[in-house]
Amino acid sequence: MAHGTDASPLLSAHRGALLRFRADPGASNDAASHDYFEDGLLLIEDGRVAACGPATELLAQLPRSLAVTHHVDSLILPGFIDTHIHYPQVDVIGAGGQGLLDWLETYTFPQERRFSDFAHASAVAEVFLDELARNGTTTALVFCTVHAASVEAFFTAAQRRGLRMIAGKVLMDRNCPEYLRDTADEGIATSRQLLTRWHGQDRLGYAITPRFAPTSTPEQLLAAGRLAAEFPDVHIHSHLAENHDEIEWVGRLYPEARSYLDVYDRCGLVRERAVYAHCLHMDDVDRLRMASAGAAAAFCPTSNLYLGSGLFDIHAADRTGQRFSVATDVGGGTSFSLLRTLDEACKVAKLTGQYLSPLRAFYLVTLGAARCLGLQHQIGTLATGSEADFVVLDLQATELLARRTRAAHALNDVLSALLTLGDDRAVRATYSLGRLIASRPTLRNPERL
Ligand code: GUN
Ligand code: ZN
Repeated sequence: MAHGTDASPLLSAHRGALLRFRADPGASNDAASHDYFEDGLLLIEDGRVAACGPATELLAQLPRSLAVTHHVDSLILPGFIDTHIHYPQVDVIGAGGQGLLDWLETYTFPQERRFSDFAHASAVAEVFLDELARNGTTTALVFCTVHAASVEAFFTAAQRRGLRMIAGKVLMDRNCPEYLRDTADEGIATSRQLLTRWHGQDRLGYAITPRFAPTSTPEQLLAAGRLAAEFPDVHIHSHLAENHDEIEWVGRLYPEARSYLDVYDRCGLVRERAVYAHCLHMDDVDRLRMASAGAAAAFCPTSNLYLGSGLFDIHAADRTGQRFSVATDVGGGTSFSLLRTLDEACKVAKLTGQYLSPLRAFYLVTLGAARCLGLQHQIGTLATGSEADFVVLDLQATELLARRTRAAHALNDVLSALLTLGDDRAVRATYSLGRLIASRPTLRNPERL
C-alpha cells in the first residue's frame, strides 16, 4: 500500500464503532445481515475501502506511522443515499398548499420557473449540495427542472465536488404552465444531449425524468421509453400513485391502462434502475410487476405526511418483493435529514399496524438504497474495493442524545435513539471518496475535523 505525504494522503484510517450491511435485516433483524464492530477500523486507499474490520486486528498489520482519525462516541456508517429529492424545491419546503396538486400549482411551478437561469440554478445547487453533505447524504437521485440549464448547473456543481450523483431534466409537455412546458420531441432531444454529455462523467449518472403521467403526453412517455431502451444503464425517475386526485386524473387521461403503473409499463419505463416515488395507492398486481421488473419504490414519509398523501405499506412491499428505500422528497418532504425521515418512516409503519426496526431503517438508506439504484457495487456497503463514502454520527451531539445513548447498550437501541433524536446536529462528519466534505463541532469536541 502506498503512502501519500500531502494533505490528502492516499492512505487514511478512521477508528470508531462501525456498522455496515450485507443484506436486508428484514423484520427479524437477522444477525447475518450486518457487521457491527464496536471498535472498528476503516482503511481507505485512494478513495476506496482497502479494509474494514476490528481495529486491533487491522492496526497490528499496519505501519505504526499511519495517521488514524479516532471518532470517539460515534458511529461510522456508509454515507446515506437519498433516492428521491428535488433540488429546485429547496425554497418551497413547508410552503403550504392543500395537497399535492394545489401545492404544485401554487408554490412549486412558480419556483421551478427560476431555473431557466443558470446563475440562479448554480447558486441553489451549491446550497442543496451543502445541505446534503451536512446531513450525511453522499448520493442522491435528483429531479432538476424542465430547463437544460438546471441540469447543467447541478452536474457542474456535483462534479466539482467529486460526488456520486444522479439527476435529469424533467419531461413535461402538458398540464403545466407554458413557462415549464417542453414538447415530446424537444424534451427527448434535450434529454439525449444532456445524457450524452453527463452520463458516466466521473461519478455522475443520468436519469430520464418524466415528472409524472399527468404532465406528459403518451407520445412523450413512449419516446422516454425508447430513449431508456437505448441506454439500459441510465436511471428512470418519476412519481407514482401518490394522491387520490392524481390517480383519478391519470385514469381519465389514460383510460386504456389497467393502472397508473401500467401507463409507465406500456412505455417501457418499468425496469431495473427505475425509481418511482411514493407508490402509496396501488394493488399487489402492480407491486408484483415492479418486483419482477426490478423497479423500486421510494418511500417518502415526511412528504406523504406533509401533503397528506397516504401511508406506505411496507408489509405489502415485502409480501410482493417490491424493492423500496426511504427518501426525503424535499421540498414536498420537510427535511434534508434522513435521520428525521427514518423517524417518520418508523411512525408511518406503526400507523399501519406494522413495524420498521431501527436496524432495517438504516439499511434502507444505505445498502437498501444502493440496491434500488443498482449501485451496490460502488456505494452503500463499505465493502473492500467500494467507494469510501461514509458518515460519522455523533452519539453525543446533544445533551439529550448523549444521555439517551449512554443508557443504550444494544445496537438497535442506539440506532433507535439516533433516528428519534437525531438530525443534522448528529452528523459529526461526512466523507466522499475518503475526503472530508462536511464536519461540525461537537459538545465534547468543539473543533471541526
Ligand atoms: N408529483 C409530480 N410532481 C411532484 C413533485 O414535485 N413532488 C411530489 N411530491 N409529487 C409530485
Ligand atoms: Zn417528488
